[in-house]
Amino acid sequence: MKKNILFFAIAAGIIGSVNVFANPDQDESINKGREHFKIFCSNCHGVNADGRGPLVETLKITPADLTALKQTGDACVAERVLKAVAGKHDVAAGQKKNMPNFSHNLESITIYEITQYLKSIQK
Ligand code: HEC
Repeated sequence: MKKNILFFAIAAGIIGSVNVFANPDQDESINKGREHFKIFCSNCHGVNADGRGPLVETLKITPADLTALKQTGDACVAERVLKAVAGKHDVAAGQKKNMPNFSHNLESITIYEITQYLKSIQK
């Protein structure tokens, strides 16, 4: 049952992705990134990216607070986001990654816009 909920959440997010057009304007990228984030990431990470999404209780590992990426770890924010989206982020030794790999499901521009949004909300 938990798996079904998770699958539905992710599938709904993927189907909901419509706007993938590039826009050179920075604010526009951030705004689009916020919308993509709500669709693909907020179920786990929360609408405000603070790690408190509605699916948290169904996960074995608490999703990261994505407003604090700048304060934790050595890598820059963009690198952390790109790695996580591609399933290449670090997790504790022996721990299975809880976050789905999005690299085959999201356009590069969508990942770029999400990254711009997350960079803009660092504490
Ligand atoms: C199914 C729940 C889920 C979804 C959906 C999800 N994440 Fe995550 N995310 C996690 C969990 C859990 C972690 C903690 C590490 C782990 O277990 O994989 C995490 C960790 C992260 C990290 C931190 C990696 C690090 O370096 O510490 C970033 C960045 C991140 N997610 C970004 C995203 C973005 C961007 C999206 C949307 C495209 C997204 N996540 C969607 C559950 C999720």
